[in-house]
Amino acid sequence: MTLPDGYSEIAPGKLASVVTCLEMDAAPPLRPARADPAWDLRRRVDADLDAYRSLFARVGREWLWFSRLTMPAEELRRILADPDEEVWVFSVGGADEGLLELDFRESGQCELAFFGLTAAARGSGAGRWLMNRAIERAWRRPIERLWVHTCTLDHPAALDFYRRSGFRPYARRVEVADDPRLVGLLPRDAAPGIPIVEPDRNSAEP
Ligand SMILES: CC(C)(COP(=O)(O)OP(=O)(O)OC[C@H]1O[C@@H](n2cnc3c(N)ncnc32)[C@H](O)[C@@H]1OP(=O)(O)O)[C@@H](O)C(=O)NCCC(=O)NCCS
Repeated sequence: MTLPDGYSEIAPGKLASVVTCLEMDAAPPLRPARADPAWDLRRRVDADLDAYRSLFARVGREWLWFSRLTMPAEELRRILADPDEEVWVFSVGGADEGLLELDFRESGQCELAFFGLTAAARGSGAGRWLMNRAIERAWRRPIERLWVHTCTLDHPAALDFYRRSGFRPYARRVEVADDPRLVGLLPRDAAPGIPIVEPDRNSAEP
């Protein structure tokens, strides 16, 4: 179903974004990347949900990432323990500053499920370095497709960054979800550029 032109009503307390899905069907040539001896990437294998959620929130709060914060603990534990879910932590001089997650659970494909750096690491060339590692890791397994999605709440440079990486857009969707700041998943001062609209004061309901 495609949304009609014009305005579509959003329920009180909800946020809407436009999601772009992108894919590639073969390993692309890697783009040149700077290297830094302080950068490191390690696979996260422990099942410490609090540590995982804390890094997820630190990387994603500016972009209102919520999916892993709202997921029931048992489900998240199961996903993180799955050998087909690769969670990689990017660090700079020993400090964790980025998250890369590759989801191979669907046979023959890989979703670049999460990809992001903290503000401290952005704009240093680390994004390109990390994407090159992501592409290498993904295509090391026997897949036919690598895909990712990014939304209009993400960093505005992310979509073009993915295009330059070799991904092609193939679908756009509107996503509607609870504003994570209104349901206590993220602090109210997260993403100050996206205003909070209180449901009680601005309700569209009569
Ligand atoms: C998307 C994201 C990872 C990109 O990271 P970034 O820090 O902007 O990436 P880089 O610093 O590597 O910069 C991008 C470009 O500048 C180049 N660059 C930056 N600093 C450089 C330097 N000092 N020397 C040489 N090149 C440099 C990179 O090589 C890269 O070039 P290319 O894209 O033309 O190949 C980052 O914006 C981010 O974490 N955003 C928040 C989360 C998000 O929106 N994720 C995506 C949606 S899921």
